[in-house]
Amino acid sequence: MASFKKRHSEIWAVGGGKGGVGKSFILSSVGSHLALQGKQVVLLDADLGGANLHTFLGMNKPAISLTDFFDDKLPLSELIVDSGVDNMGLLTGAIRSLAPNGIKHTQKLKLFRHIEELETEYVLIDLGGGIHFNTLDTFLLADKMIMVVVPEIIAIENMYHFLKNVFYRKLTNTLSAYGLKDIVRKAWQNRSELNITSLKELVDHLKGLSKRVEDIINMELSNFTVYIVLNQIRNHQEIIIGNYVTSVCMKYFDLKAEYAGYIEYDSFVSRCINERQLYMKANSSSSCAKEIKRLTRNLLEGKHIRIGN
Ligand SMILES: Nc1ncnc2c1ncn2[C@@H]1O[C@H](COP(=O)(O)OP(=O)(O)O)[C@@H](O)[C@H]1O
Ligand SMILES: [Mg+2]
Repeated sequence: MASFKKRHSEIWAVGGGKGGVGKSFILSSVGSHLALQGKQVVLLDADLGGANLHTFLGMNKPAISLTDFFDDKLPLSELIVDSGVDNMGLLTGAIRSLAPNGIKHTQKLKLFRHIEELETEYVLIDLGGGIHFNTLDTFLLADKMIMVVVPEIIAIENMYHFLKNVFYRKLTNTLSAYGLKDIVRKAWQNRSELNITSLKELVDHLKGLSKRVEDIINMELSNFTVYIVLNQIRNHQEIIIGNYVTSVCMKYFDLKAEYAGYIEYDSFVSRCINERQLYMKANSSSSCAKEIKRLTRNLLEGKHIRIGN
């Protein structure tokens, strides 16, 4: 399917963590860093419960949003407003646009097509929390799926929960495209009789059903990779938590997870918001900004953090 897409840009999406972990801060900072380096970037604020990306950019909420795309049928490219950073535009979501029953399936596909056709180098999508299928599908649209987590058990559990749902959705979407939607649902519904206790076992069961299913899963899901960012660390000992999180993803979900970077807690983040300053401009040489730059580089180059052996 992917080969038919007319995609001009690379799409990165940030999602998964519970509210307040720093998804919007990281997305706006990574976007700003790319743009300050001369890359063409569009930020898409798709956090419908609390669209606040503009706040990290020191802006008021833009008057135009995805509502104008759905209601007035304006092209997406005309709804991009100036972000205050050269080379970077901002597209703001609308409360109902991706909300449950907010848009029809065909409208969602149209939106995705327009996102893919935006003439820019990078589209960075900021997602809210929750596991509604529209949120999962928007996350799955991305070439790079980035999950932000903080070193705290509730946030980590939330992230696993999101990831499980993302992967299940990916499995269902993929097999549906081959006319095999029901096999996933049936297997999951009968998981206790089938002794399926994890996603890994679900995938193994499905692969065992036929050679065709095995080939489809191997072909379409073997490259499924998520990128983990550990935010708001307060000491060096916490860096290792990113390793544990990625190992759990691989061990229990059988997913490829890369530890893309860690970002320390910096009280200037909230000060910048209150003073309506862009963090990456006002604090460009802080440790936190350096870590954002390293994270961006890792995401661009497909590198990851390695600690110990
Ligand atoms: N690395 C950090 N250091 C200090 N404060 C941070 C950091 N990351 C996020 N924050 C603060 O945490 C709050 C929530 O961040 P936000 O990006 O809005 O989270 P989310 O988008 O996940 O809900 C913000 O007030 C922000 O200032
Ligand atoms: Mg947010």
